[in-house]
Amino acid sequence: MKGVILAGGLGTRLMPLTRVTNKHLLPVYDCPMIYYPVRCLVNAGIDDIMIVTGGNNAGDFLMLLGNGKEFGLKHLNYTYQEGEGGIAEALGLTEHFAEGERVCVVLGDNIIEKNIRAAVEDFGEQKGGAKILLKKVPDPERFGVPVLDGKRIVRIEEKPAKPASGYAVTGIYMYDNTVFDIVKTLKPSARGELEITDVNNAYIESGNMTWSELDGWWTDAGTFASLLHANQLVADTGANKL
Ligand code: G1P
Repeated sequence: MKGVILAGGLGTRLMPLTRVTNKHLLPVYDCPMIYYPVRCLVNAGIDDIMIVTGGNNAGDFLMLLGNGKEFGLKHLNYTYQEGEGGIAEALGLTEHFAEGERVCVVLGDNIIEKNIRAAVEDFGEQKGGAKILLKKVPDPERFGVPVLDGKRIVRIEEKPAKPASGYAVTGIYMYDNTVFDIVKTLKPSARGELEITDVNNAYIESGNMTWSELDGWWTDAGTFASLLHANQLVADTGANKL
């Protein structure tokens, strides 16, 4: 399975911190934010990784991470997203890298405490389709929220005013190679982006989506409040260290 880290976007919710740099280069306690999703994949046993970035700071990722030696990697792959086309568009840019294999996708601002290796191995045994990781949160309206019927996932609603469950869909997604065909069918949402939630709903509709609950704490870091929270969590308990 290959790994993909999505680290583009303008980070508008963190302006002016993101006026001259990319959100994923900002510090989270003692490391740049991008270190955490790289560790997440490496700790899960995934060592063939592509980073999708964009904007004016794409070169800074190369200067910071190089070939990934600090993470025990021999090589890192990079690609460039022009403009603000959304998470699913960024994922679509990695089709040539995936070369028909499955992908584990991590959003560059998602930070976890523990290890996703067990979930990645479960997905490896799954015939195909997709797998997402859910986490109970106090503020589900900030995220993609699953509508559940018992254990069955019925659909995902993106940032619903009235969340149908107390879970957030975390930014860790596992897909078979049909994801690239799905991305090509998507239409831009009201905010003009190709939404990852539409990708996930396509898998749910075809009956090919499984989920499990993420172990340990999870946070995004894309707002002032969540960035502060992420710093505190990492400082207090450490994150998924190599
Ligand atoms: C994105 C997804 C959302 C998901 C979240 C996880 O939201 O659209 O479904 O729950 O990441 O971090 P964003 O933070 O890009 O608005």
